[in-house]
Amino acid sequence: MSSTEKTGLSRRSALCGLLVALAVPGGLAACGGEPSTSGGGTTGTSGGTAGTGTAGAPPIAALADVPDGGGLVAGNPATSKPLVLVRTGDAVKAYDATCPHQGVTVAPPENGTMTCPAHGSQFKAADGSLAKGPATTGLTEVPVKVENGQVVLA
Ligand code: FES
Repeated sequence: MSSTEKTGLSRRSALCGLLVALAVPGGLAACGGEPSTSGGGTTGTSGGTAGTGTAGAPPIAALADVPDGGGLVAGNPATSKPLVLVRTGDAVKAYDATCPHQGVTVAPPENGTMTCPAHGSQFKAADGSLAKGPATTGLTEVPVKVENGQVVLA
């Protein structure tokens, strides 16, 4: 009986991780919104929580899913806003992916540059600074770290 329940939770946890990795905005709400108050109390989500400063924060993405020398766009688990991740080896930086011009989500970096598809603003992957307008400011860095193979908020 309880093993079936645990299997359900594991599948759910895996699905939640997938939704986060795919940056599905509603996925986070669906994953975190039900603290089981019925009977069993805390059943303990398997894995995941390594007990650091961001107590229980879901990962942004698996490091293995972030192309080395490039990056990807994923959801910020704290705000549900898009983050653009930039990977160089085992180091990952993250920026708010919302273009400061008119709010369109910028594309992942190519050749060291993140480009906004709306009007062509460009930002340097190394530090998020503005490389080309019409935006007038760069992207805001969001502190992240790699922990147990997962990119998480720092
Ligand atoms: S919204 Fe990004 S360049 Fe205009």
